[in-house]
Formats: sequence, structure tokens, C-alpha cells
Amino acid sequence: MAEIGFDLEKAAYFLKNDELVAIPTETVYGLAGNGLKNLTIEKIYKVKNRPGNNPLILHVPTFEGIEPIVKKIPEMALKLAQAYWPGPLTFVLPKQDHIPDLATGGLPTVAVRVPAHEMTRSLLSLLDFPLAAPSANLSNRISPTTAEHVAFQIGDKIPYILNGGQCTQGIESTIIGFEGNIPVIYRHGALSIEEIQKISSDVLIRNEHRKIVAPGMFSKHYAPKTRLIATRNIHKSLGGLEDQKLAVLTLTPEIHNCLNDSIHKACMSSNGDLFEAAHNLYDLLYKLDAMNFDCILVEYVPDTGIGISINDRLKRASV
Ligand code: TXA
Ligand code: MG
Repeated sequence: MAEIGFDLEKAAYFLKNDELVAIPTETVYGLAGNGLKNLTIEKIYKVKNRPGNNPLILHVPTFEGIEPIVKKIPEMALKLAQAYWPGPLTFVLPKQDHIPDLATGGLPTVAVRVPAHEMTRSLLSLLDFPLAAPSANLSNRISPTTAEHVAFQIGDKIPYILNGGQCTQGIESTIIGFEGNIPVIYRHGALSIEEIQKISSDVLIRNEHRKIVAPGMFSKHYAPKTRLIATRNIHKSLGGLEDQKLAVLTLTPEIHNCLNDSIHKACMSSNGDLFEAAHNLYDLLYKLDAMNFDCILVEYVPDTGIGISINDRLKRASV
């Protein structure tokens, strides 16, 4: 079983010796390994049971860290990085030839980001290679936002989990590529469209109905084991579920007292704050998933700001 600890030197030691370490970021925990070696990248895919055509994000300590990894940096990427790095924003850019095809699933592009967690930035500065780190969950399951979530899912497969507390953002990074100088959102995430529009008034969105460029865009993803139904109307969706052992998850506790006593009730925020909701969402889903309900009924949140990313995850987790 993985040791959970705060020892950066120990984490660096494992990574330098081609072992995997789970690392905290501001979004979710990552399953990290040397991003320049086929051996470690293969280990990552194996531990997650992830298909090899679903590429990884390379994490670096500073903006300069992407220079040896990517070929061309559009002017707009520079502006966005100045505004939001370190932070929950990932760029997909043409890769340099030495970046292993295994890391990019054979694509000519590579995903890169500078995470905002101080522990992980310090760890990265102890290493002379980027860290490939997908979310530290088993493929298609909920991303971990605490060291305990990581231990629960993959603790028996890795030697060390660096404990950085509960992730502040709680939802994965926003992934963007570029068409010329125009940002294209491939995955909604912790950085909202509105924030990107502050830097670039033009933003394109590639949703499921267009060409799939990031497997994060495949419809089924991020699911708990328990059946999850996402709905815009809790009362309506309760019809037909009367005989089930139910949990209801809403943004605020407002409607809880109108619900039957037999229903377990939870909320993402006390006052409807969407950042608090994102921060709590995966932890709540982990907890509810462990309580053996027949079904978890989750209410969509307002479609604004980070709410769009929360709803995207709920839709994908839903049956
Ligand atoms: O917040 C995050 O992004 C977390 C933390 C650990 O940094 N990482 C994360 O990684 O969510 P992962 O592997 O679970 O999701 C990365 C997504 C995948 O959906 C993958 O398809 C996409 O990034 N991706 C990676 N390289 C790509 C590329 N060259 N083109 C398009 N999409 C790419
Ligand atoms: Mg993931």
C-alpha cells in the first residue's frame, strides 16, 4: 500500500528512479511519472487501466519549461499563460520530436500545463524532466481531490502519495488548443470561458457534436459506481424511483425539507457559490458512492462560469 506523506525529497527520489508518485495540484491529484520515458508512461497507462490513445498532460514548473517540449507558441498562448499560469489551464500545442509518441497517443501535439500547487511546483523544480500526470483515478472513474481518494483507487499500485490536502479547485483544468491565434476549448474545466474571454474575445468550443480531439470529450467519463442521474428537476425525476434507496445532491440545501425523510440529502454549497460547489463535488460523489445507494440523483447547477464545467461532468457521469 502506498505511503501517504509530505516528503518532497522522497517523492523526487521515486520519480528519478522511474517509479510513479501521486501528486497534488489545485485541480485534482495526478498520477505522475517521468514524461520523457516510455517505461514510466507505460506504467501510468497500466495503473489507470487507460487506453493508450488517450494522451497525457506534461506538467512543468514555469512557462519556460514548455520551450523544450513544444514547437510553436502562439502569441495568444503567451498572453493566456501570463494571465493564468500557474493555474488550471492546459495548452495543446505541436510537440517537439523527442517527446515520446506514447505520451501523446501518437498525436503530433502535446498537452502542457504549469500547476498552481506549491508542493508540486517545488517537486517539479527538483526534477530535470516534465511530469506526465493524468488524474490519479482508474480510467472512467471520479478524479481524486484528496490523498485518501487516491489511496482508495490506486493505493495498492504505487509506492508514494504526496499529500497536499484537498485540491482547492476540485475540477480538472480547462484544455485549449489554437486555431491560428484563436483559443479552442477542448475540455471545460476549472478556468471558465468568461476568464478566457477576458484575454481573447474570440473563443471557439469544440463539443461532442464536432470532431473529437480530446478523449475527455467522449460522452461517458468521470462516473461513480452507483447509478447517477443528473436532472434539472429533482421532483420530476423522483417519480418512478420511490422504491429505491436514494441520495439527492443539490447545489444548495433549499429544497431538502420538501423531500421525503427516507431520502439522503447532500448539497455542494451552503449559499450557491459555484466555486465551493466545484471544490466539493468529487469528494461528495466519493462519499455518496461509498454509501451503497441504488441511485444518486444530482441537480444540474446554473449554466454560468464554472457551472458549465460542473454540468459537463454531471452529464458525463449520468446514465
Ligand atoms: O487538471 C488536470 O488537467 C489534471 C491534473 C492532474 O493536471 N489532469 C488531467 O489529466 O485531468 P487527464 O489525463 O485525466 O486528462 C487529460 C486530458 C485527456 O482528456 C486527454 O485526452 C487530453 O487531456 N489531451 C492530452 N493530450 C492531448 C492532445 N495532444 N490533444 C488533445 N487532447 C489531449
Ligand atoms: Mg482524467
